[in-house]
Amino acid sequence: MIRVGIIGVGNIASMLVQAVEYYRRVRSVDGLIHHAIGGYRVEDITFVYAIDVSRHKVGKDLAEAIFAKPNLVPRYVDVPKTGVIVRMGKVLDGVAEHMVEDFEPANEPEPTEKELVRELEDAKVDVLVNLLPVGSAKATRFYAEVAAKAGVAFVNCIPEFIASDPSYAKMFEEHKTLVLGDDIKGQLGSTIVHRALASLITMRGAELVESYQLNVGGNTDFKNMLEQSRLTSKKISKTMAVASTQPNPEEAAQSIFAGPSGYIPFLHNTKVAYIYLKARGFMGLPVTIDLKLVVDDKAMATAILVDVIRLAKALKDKGVVGAPDWASAFYFKYPPRQAKTDELALLELYLKLRELGIEIQPNRLYWWDYIARK
Ligand SMILES: NC(=O)c1ccc[n+]([C@@H]2O[C@H](COP(=O)([O-])OP(=O)(O)OC[C@H]3O[C@@H](n4cnc5c(N)ncnc54)[C@H](O)[C@@H]3O)[C@@H](O)[C@H]2O)c1
Repeated sequence: MIRVGIIGVGNIASMLVQAVEYYRRVRSVDGLIHHAIGGYRVEDITFVYAIDVSRHKVGKDLAEAIFAKPNLVPRYVDVPKTGVIVRMGKVLDGVAEHMVEDFEPANEPEPTEKELVRELEDAKVDVLVNLLPVGSAKATRFYAEVAAKAGVAFVNCIPEFIASDPSYAKMFEEHKTLVLGDDIKGQLGSTIVHRALASLITMRGAELVESYQLNVGGNTDFKNMLEQSRLTSKKISKTMAVASTQPNPEEAAQSIFAGPSGYIPFLHNTKVAYIYLKARGFMGLPVTIDLKLVVDDKAMATAILVDVIRLAKALKDKGVVGAPDWASAFYFKYPPRQAKTDELALLELYLKLRELGIEIQPNRLYWWDYIARK
């Protein structure tokens, strides 16, 4: 069993809780990246703790709170009562001014750091997942410190630099636990597709001249990101994820735009991304790629989360501490160290897991046998 706590019972949390129930019932592994990590299957995830600040969620059983407004994820499966009552958190900068009417903070006393540390210890949480809105700089740091002090593994799904900040990596190491992050890179989302195309251009001897990635969607995540002042780290995270595939990432970043570009309410959780790349190819002649990608935004993130939660627990079992960069590069947009390609990130992960004696199945690198023989 993996005992999981959630911070921010929004749309991803809804998808995650339903996904665990779904895979438990269907007994299928379709759609999963890895079927088992360190012996853990998706149905081994159990929810033991949850925090939010919304009056529609605080005080409710997690199984009910995931369907409370403004969440939009449809009811894919009936989730039995969990016995986990959503706890009031600390608002800090989690709720932007223009989001007050959506998140509607509850009028309840906020907990202290000490209280939360004790609660995580009492609930025996193994892995705490940060799903706060973009721009929650103070709130993310507050909960990261709570997790570290409680000796809990922290999965940072949002573009606040925690795993990639050496001082936070050190804090987790000192408390003998670990952090994975930052900013989830969706299963087949715009970042990984954009990275793959940018890498391909370089591999085929052409040069990336300029590129953009425009993203629109219709959930609170996109509405929250209308506030430009909350987007600084999101833009860095998305831009560098693509630029890092290029020979000179800092220079390449000057000609890349990647970021949220609009809120269209009727899209709900459907995300539409327009990706444009212009390259200089053979004899200096131009090559242009224009691509439209349509995905369920929350499914993309959750497919990664079910891997990362199991990975965090498997690493914790083996005593891995700090911010292991090789564990985050395949799964996050802004890891402590970027890999040039996602195949390389996966190879590094597999090699390290083999060293630690952690089994992962199936092997998604078709050329693994060739490398392993070397
Ligand atoms: N593909 C993806 O969906 C994807 C990819 C990468 C990163 N992310 C990030 O993951 C995060 C979660 O996404 P989501 O769609 O579930 O968001 P959401 O808007 O649906 O949910 C956010 C939740 O956080 C709660 N909250 C606000 N302030 C809080 C506080 N101080 N303490 C506790 N709870 C608080 C809100 O009430 C809400 O329930 C976002 O930052 C998003 O950008 C998502």
